[in-house]
Amino acid sequence: MSRYGLELDNTEHARLRAQAAGAGAGEIWALAGVATGADVVDLGCGPAAVMLELASLVGPEGTLTGVDADPDMVERGQAAVAAAGADNVIVRQGLAEDSGLAPGSFDCAIVRLVLIHNGGREQEIVDHAASLVRPGGRVLLIDLDSTMIRYIPGTTAPISELHERYQAYQRARGNDPAVGLRLPELLEAAGLQVETFRTACAPRRRGSGERGPSWAARRAMVEEGVATTEDLERWTRQFEELDDQQKQPWIIGCVFMAIGRRC
Ligand SMILES: C[S@@+](CC[C@H](N)C(=O)[O-])C[C@H]1O[C@@H](n2cnc3c(N)ncnc32)[C@H](O)[C@@H]1O
Repeated sequence: MSRYGLELDNTEHARLRAQAAGAGAGEIWALAGVATGADVVDLGCGPAAVMLELASLVGPEGTLTGVDADPDMVERGQAAVAAAGADNVIVRQGLAEDSGLAPGSFDCAIVRLVLIHNGGREQEIVDHAASLVRPGGRVLLIDLDSTMIRYIPGTTAPISELHERYQAYQRARGNDPAVGLRLPELLEAAGLQVETFRTACAPRRRGSGERGPSWAARRAMVEEGVATTEDLERWTRQFEELDDQQKQPWIIGCVFMAIGRRC
């Protein structure tokens, strides 16, 4: 079974870019050591959207190195980096739990929205991230408790039904939907000193045309028997109807962030 259960197409790529947009604005990056001249590694970097947001924080003297297991993500990431002319950003294929990068060669290691897809390998990934940072360097983990996601109104079709099926799909893959709550314990077990643990639960209106991560797993859910092709046809119609509505539902998701320092 592949490590990552979501399919990459243009809709999913756009979702990942939107999810990364403005990511560099929060103070969490400064706390994690993403500052001028820093060497940063992003494990499970996807199409490099977050690294491109962070490029201005590290400046030309800093470096950003991204690793992703999926060759399509790597290809799209490399294309995005080339289009942005970001000479100090590198994207390469590799595993978050064993990247092949030199130990102790980074100021900060980021693992964002990756652990939730790696049930049973979470500690291995965080241990590897810890091994990549220099003494005094930091590991920043960002992940969800997806059981806490709420929609207002709560039973908006097809979002609520799709969300439940997606939860079942991820659990069947052995993933922990509440991994966000475990971030400090993962850092401590990797021998790091936990400096920060916070959450952000900002309600936002669904954007017309928006499909969640579950949409990127729709075909896999059919293959795994969690959904049927009839479900997909119904959800497609319902999404189109929802897109046409002027008043969109609210989405409230809880993101957890934790920083551990290597002594
Ligand atoms: C939800 S995306 C997040 C991408 C990026 N970190 C971000 O925040 O935009 C998860 C990414 O992690 C990658 N991934 C998942 N498990 C991985 C592993 N064990 N090793 C390397 N990449 C992995 C997937 O291929 C995918 O690109």
